[in-house]
Amino acid sequence: MSAPEHRWPAGAVVTGAGRGLGRQIAELLVKREYQVLITDVDGDAAQAAAAELGERAQAMVVDVRDEAAVLAARDRVVEWAGRLDVWVNNAGVLFTGPVWEHDEQQRRLMLEVNALGTMNGTLAAVAAMRSSGGGHIVNIASLAGISAVPGESVYAASKHAVMGFSLSAIADLRAAKIKDIDISCICPDGIWTPMLHDKLDDPGAALSFSGLLQPEDVVAAVAKVLDNPRLVTTVPGWRGAVCRLGDVFPSLGMAALPLVIAQGRRTQKKMLKKRAVSPRRSWRGAGR
Ligand SMILES: NC(=O)c1ccc[n+]([C@@H]2O[C@H](COP(=O)([O-])OP(=O)(O)OC[C@H]3O[C@@H](n4cnc5c(N)ncnc54)[C@H](O)[C@@H]3O)[C@@H](O)[C@H]2O)c1
Repeated sequence: MSAPEHRWPAGAVVTGAGRGLGRQIAELLVKREYQVLITDVDGDAAQAAAAELGERAQAMVVDVRDEAAVLAARDRVVEWAGRLDVWVNNAGVLFTGPVWEHDEQQRRLMLEVNALGTMNGTLAAVAAMRSSGGGHIVNIASLAGISAVPGESVYAASKHAVMGFSLSAIADLRAAKIKDIDISCICPDGIWTPMLHDKLDDPGAALSFSGLLQPEDVVAAVAKVLDNPRLVTTVPGWRGAVCRLGDVFPSLGMAALPLVIAQGRRTQKKMLKKRAVSPRRSWRGAGR
């Protein structure tokens, strides 16, 4: 159950919304008439996004690793909009390569931004929503949160943490008889956003290109759960089913991975070629 339907849209927060998927989710929420606080560690990007989205959007510099900054964002949106209805934990970072090539700083950054940042946002939102009649938290995880991803091991670990935390947190809420706060996890395949723009030549990122989505595909999934909260939505659904199968039969999953990686490498090479021929055009729609 989500926030009561008779309520008018009030406040929403999106983390990491200065660019990429978060920027587009913020746009969706503005169109749905929420007052949207666009937060990002990159203050200029957050400002630019808010300016483009008009008076229903405001910007704030927030590093999701910093609990005090996350709580300040929560308080600001409540003060501005009167109530917090929606919180989207979207901020994320990705480093690729064999796991032994990640240095300590990269491992820490991925776990802190992707996992701890999601925990900080969820807990800040729950506290506000408990005292104002409920709300909806949307956590952007990944298919990497439900499957093995060679080349993205630490990232996958951080997204598994997001899934474990989110599903356990909603179970805690229900056990405490709190029924008016929902948590929906979105697990997309690779998405053509700035996160991948510099990874066309990176074999470590191949799996992200094996079924590349456009941000709009994922925004549509977010729109759907905003209407009907859902614990886990994989995008596309069939790839989620394949990942689950690999989970039940790990040896089968491991055996299939080289085929999927080869598919991803083919897409990367095709896109590289397209970009070489037509550098401008290739930035959008290149995955299709
Ligand atoms: N692009 C993909 O292939 C893909 C696939 C599945 C899931 N995701 C997830 O989708 C979400 C959005 O990613 P994207 O593809 O738009 O990537 P992106 O790199 O384009 O955007 C990520 C945003 O997060 C911000 N950010 C980074 N560290 C931060 C921090 N400490 N505090 C606050 N903001 C911070 C960045 O400044 C950036 O604006 C992430 O959680 C990502 O893991 C991405």
